[in-house]
Amino acid sequence: MKPFKIRDVEISPPLVLSPMAGVTDVPFRALLKRRGGIGLTVSEFISVEGLTRNNPKSRRQMRFFDYERPFAVQIFGGQPERMRMAAEMAEEVGADILDVNCGCPAPEVVKHGGGSGLLRELPRLETILKEIKKAISIPLTIKIRAGFYDHTRNAVEVARMAEACGVEHIALHGRTKEQGYKGWADWDLVRQVKEAVRVPVSGSGDVVTVEDAFRRWRETGCDGILIGRGAMANPWIFRQIEDASAGREPYQPSLEEKRAVLLEYFELLRADMPEFAAIGRMKQLAGQFTKGLTGGARFRQVIYHSHSAEEVLDRIGEYFETVRAGRTYVGEGGPDEPDAEAPALDSCEAASVEA
Ligand SMILES: Cc1cc2nc3c(=O)[nH]c(=O)nc-3n(C[C@H](O)[C@H](O)[C@H](O)COP(=O)(O)O)c2cc1C
Repeated sequence: MKPFKIRDVEISPPLVLSPMAGVTDVPFRALLKRRGGIGLTVSEFISVEGLTRNNPKSRRQMRFFDYERPFAVQIFGGQPERMRMAAEMAEEVGADILDVNCGCPAPEVVKHGGGSGLLRELPRLETILKEIKKAISIPLTIKIRAGFYDHTRNAVEVARMAEACGVEHIALHGRTKEQGYKGWADWDLVRQVKEAVRVPVSGSGDVVTVEDAFRRWRETGCDGILIGRGAMANPWIFRQIEDASAGREPYQPSLEEKRAVLLEYFELLRADMPEFAAIGRMKQLAGQFTKGLTGGARFRQVIYHSHSAEEVLDRIGEYFETVRAGRTYVGEGGPDEPDAEAPALDSCEAASVEA
């Protein structure tokens, strides 16, 4: 793996914390950045309708700290004028890169021509990219899906058109909008896009282990790799990939560190948002984070039924204490029903409804 550049912005290591609405905000990015190995952080997708109408939530979503650099602001929308205005705002707040979301499958977003809706309206996408390009001086990038329908997989065509408009990096999540999150991402399409354009290309989808990352690089020749859900389950994954690349044994966090990371996240959240919201976000991360841990399913049930910060902290303490002692976690509170799976994350759907 080797660093790459988006114009003069160096992405080193070539690993990107994939944007996730309702997840990759300031506290989550801080938690992940502290673990190391991330070459680029991206905001959640931000509504241009919200931004250009001074919606406080949208403006808040553009916040970032210097330690996150290089940092990309991702915007979504379908209206060229508003997209241009929002891009200018991102440049004004000091973002290093402006990224256009062409992948979100949420009906609310697609209905207004944004997200993956742009993949079936290339003239509109072209106008948007040209408008933005004229207005900003930081690099413009896009994140796309394989196509809109399974029978209209036009990622290569979109990538070529975007490059001609001056787009300087293309990230591809190899699923179609129709596919949602079902099946697997098509990484051969990442290879095809990489072969079709001269600008750097990164791939996204289903990278959850160090081996996955190296296999994808080998198979596709892509420049960068984005990791989303895999980073929620394992915040050390970027560092582990970096370790392996340098010939070191990939870092293995201890049980105590895993506990500490959950607590650290809770602190970061509580410093940034009201307690009820922080508790909701804890439940979300705990769900992903404890996948595969002994007694994780029971722990998730218990944590989902916690209602106060104290309860959440107590439950985390109890859980890790039981695992450390080699006992079976039975936990108190919450129904006693089977729950082997953590609930699926619902992509940009839920977040976009409010946006
Ligand atoms: C909860 C969630 C929210 C997401 N929100 C965004 C988003 O705001 N912008 C975007 O480009 N992709 C978004 N995605 C897609 C991810 O960035 C990524 O491309 C996709 O999840 C596949 O990669 P993964 O298997 O590493 O998660 C989201 C995915 C999830 C699971």
